Amino acid sequence: MSKILILNGPNLNLLGTREPEVYGASTLQDINKEISLLATTLGHEVVCKQSNAEHELIEMVHETIESSFDIIILNPGGYTHTSISLRDALLSVDIPFIEVHLSNVHNRENFRKHSYFSDIAKGTICGFGKQSYELAIQSVENILRK
Ligand code: DQA
Repeated sequence: MSKILILNGPNLNLLGTREPEVYGASTLQDINKEISLLATTLGHEVVCKQSNAEHELIEMVHETIESSFDIIILNPGGYTHTSISLRDALLSVDIPFIEVHLSNVHNRENFRKHSYFSDIAKGTICGFGKQSYELAIQSVENILRK
């Protein structure tokens, strides 16, 4: 059994109403409920957190050490393309993480093509809508076994 932190960044609290043609119709609550169910079925423990504030996300990453999380599934939202500090936080705690995005960041604006996380993530999953999170949950066991 693994303890997983699902961490969502800015504006993802508005899923459902935020650009549904890009991000889908499900709310973050819907997604968290579905992935928590999947994680439990696979024998994992899951905690879901979201913040719009960079410093709060950084603190949530720091807390993973004390709370002994095994892995983080992270959608950094817009911080994907800007936040060296959140990247540094992940490097500081040295807990493996999977980067996820609902949209395919590679077929959108040019500025979304660069991520401060992809080169240090165990893997990146993008473009599958809410299924991006499900695919990440399904890969946890394999990543942690290695
Ligand atoms: C996102 C993609 C980012 O470029 C954007 O800023 C988001 C959401 C995604 O899940 O597709 O907020 O991370």
